[in-house]
Amino acid sequence: MRLSSRLPPAFDPNALTAALTRLRSEGREILDLTLSNPTCCGFAYPEAEIRAALSQPAVLAYDPDPCGSAPAREAIAAHHGHGLGAEDLLLTASTSEGYGLLFKLLGDPGDEVLVPSPSYPLFDWLARLEGLVARTVPSYFHERWHLDLGALEAALSPRTRAVVVVNPNNPTGHFLSKPEWAGLTALCARQGLALLVDEVFGDYALEPPADCLASALLDPDPPCPVFLLSGLSKVAALPQLKLGWIALRGPGAAEHRSALAFLADQYLSVSAPVQAAASTLLALAPGVREQVRARLHRNLAALDTRLAAEPRLSRLPVEGGWSVLLRRPALDADEACALRLLESGSTLVHPGSFFDLPGDGHLVLSLLTPEGSFREGLGRILPII
Ligand SMILES: Cc1ncc(COP(=O)(O)O)c(C=O)c1O
Repeated sequence: MRLSSRLPPAFDPNALTAALTRLRSEGREILDLTLSNPTCCGFAYPEAEIRAALSQPAVLAYDPDPCGSAPAREAIAAHHGHGLGAEDLLLTASTSEGYGLLFKLLGDPGDEVLVPSPSYPLFDWLARLEGLVARTVPSYFHERWHLDLGALEAALSPRTRAVVVVNPNNPTGHFLSKPEWAGLTALCARQGLALLVDEVFGDYALEPPADCLASALLDPDPPCPVFLLSGLSKVAALPQLKLGWIALRGPGAAEHRSALAFLADQYLSVSAPVQAAASTLLALAPGVREQVRARLHRNLAALDTRLAAEPRLSRLPVEGGWSVLLRRPALDADEACALRLLESGSTLVHPGSFFDLPGDGHLVLSLLTPEGSFREGLGRILPII
């Protein structure tokens, strides 16, 4: 039987994942400097309060609203502020599901979305699985990352339906600047495009420049339709609870929300327990976010101390997010370097190529890694990069 052509031709792991599986099966202890799952990073969650929130009587009630329960939306609107109301939101089971709904909303099979790169690698598949094509448009680095608005405009085709930006970006940490926001929204308005803004890392500004756009919601009246995506996975460091959301702004927002509600109604995928617990989970979140932020700063400081003694290596500024880009002399391909660090240094890092970084010379490290492991991993890899 033939399967859908939207799927990959094979499900083979890439060379790095295959090597990791083999080394672990041989009993090798690997230090993982790519950890992005906060539940495995040693943070102290308010466990009793989380459990209590998930076992209130309301978790047993089923009264589905395709937009998500009003109390949960009110709590999310209050978390964001900037004039957002419960009526501007639609809940999803995750940010990834939010992309699926938005791609169904915006495009017909064969239509395109533009994604400034480097960026989160899942977009390619999320788009393909909805029959769309994600076209990457390189951003450039000059003292900081910049969107290439001219290149975005040049990449438009009659089939382009939307632009997807991540603010701050994963893995570059780049926050859109206010001029970039003005240029991007004007471009989308001129060309009749939607703008999807993924702000899952919005609460994690580390070294933000003065002109950065802390949130797309600071613009109360954008000239194009804006769909902001976020969720508990980063806002509360609770990816396992599966709650994301889409906030709508700009022309047509009310009609777009009705259409999204129709799409969401076909699945009703957001669980009643997480919706009942949402306001408590958001109220508890600042304590965990503080721990995450402290970890990110301490790991970055530890990296800077080590890099001061390694003139061959440097790092790019980390405006926000959970990752840092390490720059190295590109004597071999980034993927070959990552394989070498795994085999010889028993340490896992991601090559820049996994995120479409241009050329070679970048490795991506997660600043979420527990501090002892991060320092030990640096000690293992920096001398052999
Ligand atoms: C930029 C970005 N967007 C979305 C997601 C997925 O978030 P969720 O767990 O809510 O699907 C991730 C996960 O790391 C991410 O990095």
